[in-house]
Amino acid sequence: MSIRWKLVFTYLLLIVLTLGLMLSFVMTSLEERNISEHQDYLFTQANILSNTLIAEFLNLSQPHTNDYYTDVVKDFSKEIGARIIVADQEGRILIDSYSEFSSEDSIRNKELNKSLKGTQSSDIYRYDDIGRVVYVAVPIVNQTDVIGSILITSSLEPIYESLSKLLNSLFVLAIVCIGFTVATSFIFVEIIASPVEKLTELVNRVAFGKYDEKIEVEGNDEIKVLSNSFNTMMTKLDQVDTQRKQFVANVSHELRTPLTSIKILSSSLISDEATKPEIYKEFLMDIDSEVDRLNEIIDGLLYLVDLEKKELELHYTNTKINFLLTKVIYLLRPLAEQKNILIEIQAEDKVWASVDKAKLHQCLSNIIANAIKYNRENGHVLVNLVNKRSTFVIQVIDDGFGIAEESLPFVFDRFYRTDKARNRKSGGTGLGLSIVQQIVHLHQGEISIESELNKGTTVTIEIPKGII
Ligand SMILES: Nc1ncnc2c1ncn2[C@@H]1O[C@H](COP(=O)(O)OP(=O)(O)OP(=O)(O)O)[C@@H](O)[C@H]1O
Ligand SMILES: [Mg+2]
Repeated sequence: MSIRWKLVFTYLLLIVLTLGLMLSFVMTSLEERNISEHQDYLFTQANILSNTLIAEFLNLSQPHTNDYYTDVVKDFSKEIGARIIVADQEGRILIDSYSEFSSEDSIRNKELNKSLKGTQSSDIYRYDDIGRVVYVAVPIVNQTDVIGSILITSSLEPIYESLSKLLNSLFVLAIVCIGFTVATSFIFVEIIASPVEKLTELVNRVAFGKYDEKIEVEGNDEIKVLSNSFNTMMTKLDQVDTQRKQFVANVSHELRTPLTSIKILSSSLISDEATKPEIYKEFLMDIDSEVDRLNEIIDGLLYLVDLEKKELELHYTNTKINFLLTKVIYLLRPLAEQKNILIEIQAEDKVWASVDKAKLHQCLSNIIANAIKYNRENGHVLVNLVNKRSTFVIQVIDDGFGIAEESLPFVFDRFYRTDKARNRKSGGTGLGLSIVQQIVHLHQGEISIESELNKGTTVTIEIPKGII
């Protein structure tokens, strides 16, 4: 069953239940009120009649008086639309507004009996032929003696008829209400269901790999919020998908380049039968360096994969950052000497921090190696260490080739190398700064890069010192 029908049925059930409960409550209380009002009215009338009859009550058995009062009672009976019976204290009927007087007739009615004992009473009876009838009996009291009783019987059917007419009109009204609710609930349900259906369709399309879809929903309710979150998720998915495709393409490309060289070199060695041993050696050395490059790329990739593992734990140790920097620079000195590059270290304070020493070593080594690699002969590299309250900052400033403004946003992407770097065949893999960024983020730190083409580059990292 679709959400549309479920909602419509829920609305319908609610309105039917509410209307049903309301109708039954209104009808029961109206019935009770009408009947009790009618009973009160009859009691009042019976008492009025009792007061009228009391003076001549003892003479009622005499024909002359009886005739006179029979007329009075009949008039009264017509006026209130009920049968009136006047009985003496033995229960003998003295006057009956509906049938002829007979002194022999006596009636044994519960209400009459009670009233003859001095208490007025009333009850409702149901007869097959005439329907519901209310009996009201009041005693006729002379000073303290009960000398007779007045019994009024009145049909309740007119009350029930008017109640049933009212019920019928309310029923019609209820059906109109239900119809109206169903019609309006369809409109509301449409408002709720149609974005949900749109979302479902979209999710199905996403399941088949279409990540560039968006959903448009009007308004500002929860569904709109859900759609917005969905759109954000789609944008992220799309980005991840593009990155994944790009990554696979990059890896393939990077691996293919050395493999192609190896293939060409080895093929030419195989096909050329009279190759001189020196050429053999030269080609084999080229093949060897291409294999080294392949290893370098795979090592870099595996290192990155390791860093991205969710369960990766850093091995924090208290480290003197000044010493770590000196060590990194010492190891890079041969590389710097090739181009006669001067590396200076500037640190005002001794900085101790809780870091993963090996990883931070790798991180600093990559940054400083870049500053050397992408620098001219006799260039300068300045490594600046600043101690802050809860963090430390390392700046690696070089006066090398710099990075073009349009390339700057991509330098942290895997395999990204500026055209210049590619052309120079400097041997990089383009993974260095991705690894750097990953390590800095693992230490909850921040990294930024500023650069100007042909002027130089500054890489800044700021890392919390942690609990030392
Ligand atoms: N200090 C710098 N000066 C100029 N260009 C830089 C500098 N650092 C990075 N770059 C540019 O950013 C690119 C990406 O750097 P990254 O360290 O990620 O890769 P790589 O140095 O090419 O390779 P790898 O570090 O893996 O050997 C470099 O190829 C280079 O073009
Ligand atoms: Mg590098």
